[in-house]
Amino acid sequence: MSVQIIYDAPAHLTLPERFLLYSLIYGLRPASALEIGTAQGGAAMIMCAALDAVGSGRLVCVDPAPQVTPDHRARLSHRVSFLSAASPEAVAKAHELLGSPFDFVFVDGDHTYSGVLRDIEAVSLFLHEGSYVLFHDVHYFEVQDAIDEARKYLPFIDCGLLSLDATKTEYLHLGKPVVWGGLRLLRFAPASQRGAERDNHILSRPAEPDTSITRNREHSNGLSVSQSRKMIRSRGKSMLRRLRGLWSGSRRERESSAVEYSRPSFLPDRDRLTQWAGEVGEDWKGYSRVASAYYESAEQWIEQAWSQTVWPFIQECDFSCVVDLAAGHGRNTRKLLELAKQLYLVDINEDNIRFCRQRFATEKKITYIQNDGFTLNGVPSGEVSLVYCFDAMGHFDSDVIRSYLHDFSRVLKPGGYGFCHHSNYDRNPGGDIHDNPGWRNFMSQNLFHHYCAKEGLEVVKSQIIDWDTPKQDCVTLFRKPR
Ligand SMILES: C[S@@+](CC[C@H](N)C(=O)[O-])C[C@H]1O[C@@H](n2cnc3c(N)ncnc32)[C@H](O)[C@@H]1O
Repeated sequence: MSVQIIYDAPAHLTLPERFLLYSLIYGLRPASALEIGTAQGGAAMIMCAALDAVGSGRLVCVDPAPQVTPDHRARLSHRVSFLSAASPEAVAKAHELLGSPFDFVFVDGDHTYSGVLRDIEAVSLFLHEGSYVLFHDVHYFEVQDAIDEARKYLPFIDCGLLSLDATKTEYLHLGKPVVWGGLRLLRFAPASQRGAERDNHILSRPAEPDTSITRNREHSNGLSVSQSRKMIRSRGKSMLRRLRGLWSGSRRERESSAVEYSRPSFLPDRDRLTQWAGEVGEDWKGYSRVASAYYESAEQWIEQAWSQTVWPFIQECDFSCVVDLAAGHGRNTRKLLELAKQLYLVDINEDNIRFCRQRFATEKKITYIQNDGFTLNGVPSGEVSLVYCFDAMGHFDSDVIRSYLHDFSRVLKPGGYGFCHHSNYDRNPGGDIHDNPGWRNFMSQNLFHHYCAKEGLEVVKSQIIDWDTPKQDCVTLFRKPR
């Protein structure tokens, strides 16, 4: 395959991207390469041509429905194998076919946030020190966010954006422009230290010839091929176990790994709390019809809600360290940021966290936590001056509320305040919240005060308010005694 293919290949890549892809393969000389997202095989043809120029190397292409013509397949067959299967499941199979860790991976498959994250996690099982992972369409915010997220817990050095070309804005998704194109390169570096140190290190050191790929070709990380396979298999197994947890339970587990909360024995077990919190959380995922309509219209009411209900309650509070629990799309966060020095933005739903990350992209005061739905794990103990929860707790199950109150008393500093807008609807006990007005869950002003007392929190003031239905809601300000 000749270099002319750069111009002719049926690839969704701009010309600079085609040249870059060819050059990277030619320069890095991967013995084993993987492509996720084959489509018509255009990028595979470019990679194959570069490997031909090097004179060695194999490529496996993964796609649930590749559209490569028989003629193109034949032209690639000396170097390329196609797997008609979906990533991430097919990644292990690709590794098996290649018989060694991937030296180079090109990710251009499922461009959703969770899809990209799954791909990164899956390929990370089969990389070695110095492997490269190249991503296409990094101008699309979901791809970009997933890479940024993965870098927090996987040992990658960010080699940055290699190609700037982007498509014109065609439409919006989650309020963000949908723009495609762009290449970004990561280098796998588990032996290095933490992210920032790794990046400083790579930036401050003059480039050295990289021998890792050649070494890998011969011995795979300095081990014999069979030792290497054994190592990958055993490392793969333990990582796979961890990743299974991540894929099913999402990244909540990881984010709450610094478990400071201890569940009181009188509360139901974690599985039940997770289930109850999850059922309510489900209603407020950004993509659902109800939720998107809510987020779109709620913003306009926040000034009125603050001037009439919120501010008179919280004006005496200390705003040095604030938790905005169940932040949604951040309309309260925007108000709280005017006052807070530091803010923890907590929500059960990943897409709300993502939305707020974008909304407050330039804001340095915020720490984002996608939580488990019933604790403030990740928020340090005894540092918070105000826990704030507006227009969300009214839907929470009473045990979830009790669990949160228990954890509020952990995170609050002595004298710290809590402000909660909660339900005062105490009919339909044990019923489905969707049968209740405004989807209010079973709670009352008195029960909330009772729970506060049990968790050692003093009620400062409390007011029943009308919200669609008269007396359906209540706002309560409480304090952790000094
Ligand atoms: C009606 S929205 C309100 C959002 C925001 N407080 C506002 O006023 O715009 C409810 C929010 O609660 C979040 N949520 C639901 N259950 C939760 C739970 N158990 N823990 C944390 N957040 C939760 C949802 O993801 C959603 O962001």
